[in-house]
Amino acid sequence: MPLTPFTDECPTLPCIQPIRKSKHGTYYDMPMIECKHTFHRNLPPATVWGYHGMYLGPTIEVERGEPVYVKWANHLPKKHFLPVDFTVHGAHKDVPEVRTVTHLHGARVKPHSDGYPDAWFTSGFMEVGPLFERKVYHYENDMPACTLWYHDHAIGITRLNVYAGLAGFYLIHDQLEHKLPLPSGPFDIPLVIQDKSFNTDGSLYYPHQREKPVPELTTSIVGEFFGDTNVVNGKVWPYMQVEPRKYRFRLLNAANSRFYTLSLDLGQPFYLIATDGALTPAPVCLQKITLSPAERVEVIIDFTGMEQAHIILKNEAPAPYPGGPTPDPNTTGIVMAFHVTQPLSAPDTSMIPQKLRPIKPLNPTTAAKERYLTLDHLTDEYGRPIMLLNKSHWDDAITETPQLGTTEIWSFINLTDNSHAMHVHLIDFLILDRRPFDITAYEKDGTLHYTGPPRPPEREECGWKDTVRTDPGEVTRVIMHFIPYIGLYVWHCHMLEHEDYEMMRPFVVIK
Ligand code: C2O
Ligand code: CU
Repeated sequence: MPLTPFTDECPTLPCIQPIRKSKHGTYYDMPMIECKHTFHRNLPPATVWGYHGMYLGPTIEVERGEPVYVKWANHLPKKHFLPVDFTVHGAHKDVPEVRTVTHLHGARVKPHSDGYPDAWFTSGFMEVGPLFERKVYHYENDMPACTLWYHDHAIGITRLNVYAGLAGFYLIHDQLEHKLPLPSGPFDIPLVIQDKSFNTDGSLYYPHQREKPVPELTTSIVGEFFGDTNVVNGKVWPYMQVEPRKYRFRLLNAANSRFYTLSLDLGQPFYLIATDGALTPAPVCLQKITLSPAERVEVIIDFTGMEQAHIILKNEAPAPYPGGPTPDPNTTGIVMAFHVTQPLSAPDTSMIPQKLRPIKPLNPTTAAKERYLTLDHLTDEYGRPIMLLNKSHWDDAITETPQLGTTEIWSFINLTDNSHAMHVHLIDFLILDRRPFDITAYEKDGTLHYTGPPRPPEREECGWKDTVRTDPGEVTRVIMHFIPYIGLYVWHCHMLEHEDYEMMRPFVVIK
């Protein structure tokens, strides 16, 4: 039976209370548990994996500088309920099938608590990966107010673990934010956007073969996964009843590979107030916002005077992005609806401030190094597409070794046919520009022949970022300052099928 949109109410994700809080720190337990979740009223409950047995995991809210300790604990079964491809890096038969490790995406965290893909552990910490260091992770939270998210990062099966439900929000608040008259409390709502497909019995569908099957393999990783429904906070095409006032929404694209280009069907604007890592210098009025996987924005939507309106949050991004088929306006083109049917509970005293958080830009002339990093499309031994970074595999020697305290420019040279979502752990960056170049000339002799002028970042990218859309045939330049820790981290494409299949590399911040 086809699923009807706007049947289920959009849940607000609950915040979790710490198990202990003192001046030494705030302690959370985050067990990963297999449980059942109903994605749509007309679907039977599906098996999912959730932190605290919830799809999605509960929201952790902290103040800037508050020391937080989290015990991420695996209570999951030994077998995955989604199809594991044992030919993928780190997922061979010599390791336990179900491995987990949690990364706090966008946070400045010491290496021992960053959720390195090889720092995995199994149920009850019975077995651990080669780089496992500790059971309880420590977060210093010395960052401005921002919308972060935690998610699984286990080598070789991140795509399956996140699809199964291992993701949630982590919000940092600070004094500057508290003083701003932004919509708050029940009017500050995080929304996780994902795409899913379902079997007729309601269970989550994830393909076990690519379109051109590999006869030697019963299970083969697919190039990208695109679901046929959109799910917000765990419900298919939900609706949310809102008051005729301003709301702050924190939007996260937590899809495996789908990009979203969001707009509101009655033409109201979004007032963007934050990018991945912080509030922007000033609000930006936008009709459309494109988010690649893992990107976040915070927006204010003003429903004032819209009593009784039914407003649809639409998606126009093709999948794959760009160049793929455009979404079906009746299915993947719909994200959710806002029904302005609630009476105003109190006068709306919130405002869209003129100024938010200033940015001190990083000066490109101070960069100690400019790295040229290619995004490559190759073919593996089974004839499958394989995406690499700098023509290197995950296990190849480390080549990116920025020095602590220095500024670097990373130029992502996209030689593939599609956009990717490049993410660097530990730091936030600013996008400098994007510039088209001649791929054929580059592939011939490795020289960059630009075919047009550089484009400044999009208006929705005018702030601190940790993930950047890198378009095909373009060089995307970002600038970043490598502080405050030394040690081992990763950079990768955040399309999870790419990340799991070699589009991920380690890097080390050296002294
Ligand atoms: Cu959100 Cu390395 O990831
Ligand atoms: Cu990619």
